[in-house]
Parts: sequence; structure tokens; C-alpha cells
Amino acid sequence: MIKIGDRLPNSTFTVMTSEGPKPRTTDEVFAGKKVVLFALPGAFTPTCSNNHLPGFRDNLDAIKAKGVDTVAVTAVNDAFVMGAWAKSSDCDGKIEFLADGSAKFAQAIGLGLDLTERGMGMRSRRYSMLVEDGVVKTLNVEEGTGAEASGALTMLGQI
Ligand code: BEZ
Repeated sequence: MIKIGDRLPNSTFTVMTSEGPKPRTTDEVFAGKKVVLFALPGAFTPTCSNNHLPGFRDNLDAIKAKGVDTVAVTAVNDAFVMGAWAKSSDCDGKIEFLADGSAKFAQAIGLGLDLTERGMGMRSRRYSMLVEDGVVKTLNVEEGTGAEASGALTMLGQI
């Protein structure tokens, strides 16, 4: 599992744009920037939609006021699903939605979550991290079923 002080591996996400899905590299997201990244098992799932994502949306201004350039969310879903989730959650244009459709990033950082038995295939664990110029500064991996340890309020206290 990735740890504090490690550099994120090079990876390529997909983002939804007005022209359709486009690649977005880890360099484009993280180089030279202070980024809060959080991850969850799936777009539109209850805890993710009702708790984890809204927490970051509702605390976005407070997080940005601490010098964070970007708040981004990643999940193992395709860019069409992530784009639809951004719109329906009123996060479009506020939070970056990074589709990790084949779980390459989640697995590269050792935070994949196998939900095959639940019919969901390979997913991502729920976590949040503060990343400065590509290097992990804080890491909160959720151990239980909630979204507190990796939630926006925990992150606000760490920036
Ligand atoms: C959730 O509510 O976040 C969730 C539901 C099913 C599987 C994984 C996550």
C-alpha cells in the first residue's frame, strides 16, 4: 500500500468533457499542485453519494481556503458514469471526477478492493490523501463501513 512520503505512480485517468471522454494523466492532475484526492468504491452507491462526496462538496471553499488547488475524486467507474455523477451531485466544475475504469490506479497504489462476490468486480478502497506535487503528505484509509476517517472534516484538520 502506498504510504506518506511516496510519490504517486504515473497513471492515466479518464475524464468526461463536453467533447466526450478524454485521458488525464497523474502529471496533469498533480504536478506542481496541492491536491486533495479522495476515492470510494463506486459512483451512486449510498455511502459515497449521501455522505463521502457531499462532505467534500460542502466543504470545498474551506478546503480551498487552506491553499488546496484541486479537490478530486476517483472511483473504478467509466467516465460516462463519473460524468453523470458529477452533474447529479452538483459537483460538476467544482470537483475533478477521475475515472479509473480498469482499476489500474487503485491497484498501482495497493488500494484495490475486490468486490467480486457482491457483483461489483475490482473497485477502490475508500480513502483520502493530501498530495503535494505528486507526493503523498497525508493518507486516511477507511477501515470500517463509514466515511469519517477519510471524510472532508478529517482532511480539513490535516491541511
Ligand atoms: C456504499 O454505500 O458506499 C457502498 C455500497 C456497496 C458497495 C460498496 C460501497
